[in-house]
Amino acid sequence: MDFKNRDIISINDFSKEELLHILKAARQMEQKPNGSLLRGKLLAALFFEPSTRTRLSFISAMEQLGGKVIGFSTASVTSIQKGESLWDTIKMTSRYSDVIVIRNPLEGSARLAAEAADVPVINGGDGSNQHPTQTMLDLYTIQKAKGKLENLHIGFVGDLKYGRTVHSLAMAMSHFSPTLYFIAPDELQMPESYLDELFQKRVKYFKTSDLGRFSKELDVLYVTRIQKERFPDPVEYGKFKGIYRVDMEFLKNVKKDMKIMHALPRVDEIDKSVDATEHAAYFEQAANGIPIRKALLSLVLGKLK
Ligand code: CP
Repeated sequence: MDFKNRDIISINDFSKEELLHILKAARQMEQKPNGSLLRGKLLAALFFEPSTRTRLSFISAMEQLGGKVIGFSTASVTSIQKGESLWDTIKMTSRYSDVIVIRNPLEGSARLAAEAADVPVINGGDGSNQHPTQTMLDLYTIQKAKGKLENLHIGFVGDLKYGRTVHSLAMAMSHFSPTLYFIAPDELQMPESYLDELFQKRVKYFKTSDLGRFSKELDVLYVTRIQKERFPDPVEYGKFKGIYRVDMEFLKNVKKDMKIMHALPRVDEIDKSVDATEHAAYFEQAANGIPIRKALLSLVLGKLK
């Protein structure tokens, strides 16, 4: 399978076979580290929005493979401030680097960047739309934790309207015959467009606002933060802040091997006491960003098949 020069913009651009190939490449990165695979290659990390995990794990992955990184972590230090367009910014940076990772609040910005660039572009998150590398590391985490991806019962709780990680993971899981449970108040439920797509793909799903309703069914519970920055009105955000909390009481009614995932950062939706339990998979999940991003960088730069 050849990923050389491929853009990574949406999880929907990848077949089941391609996703499984990427997970296999990530396992290879973990088992046989190669500190010089990307020597001589340069990553441009262009972050127009805050990030801890995505930005730092891309930098770490690139440097661990012998490559180098340029970039910025806020638009305020760039010539965007002087009125330069995103298109021109990308056009220029693609001349300075071999691969670009971009995070930008505008939906569709990564696709636009890929059109402007002469090098592969990786979407590090475009608004509420897509975060495909997060989804790939989520799949990798589920596969490692559960030993499979097929026929799992997966719950998603919290802000399913604005949560791009939920949108992408639900679509990716549709390849693997899951049963999905969308747990959110009506106002923050999974958008109809995604539900329609799941229906077309014959994926079984349930909707509820009650966190406890399906707790005994779940193999994985994917918890999300209420995305304050995406709410047009702060009063609306205030209505939903703190609405769900996964704590020791909740864990009394779940399967012994049920795993809790969260893309992080968390605010108050998972109590700290949960961290020490066998259910907590979220820090391991964040660590899995390194092998996945090493694999993706190596694949699009043509250093791995
Ligand atoms: N999971 C994730 O995207 O985290 P950051 O926003 O810190 O990159």
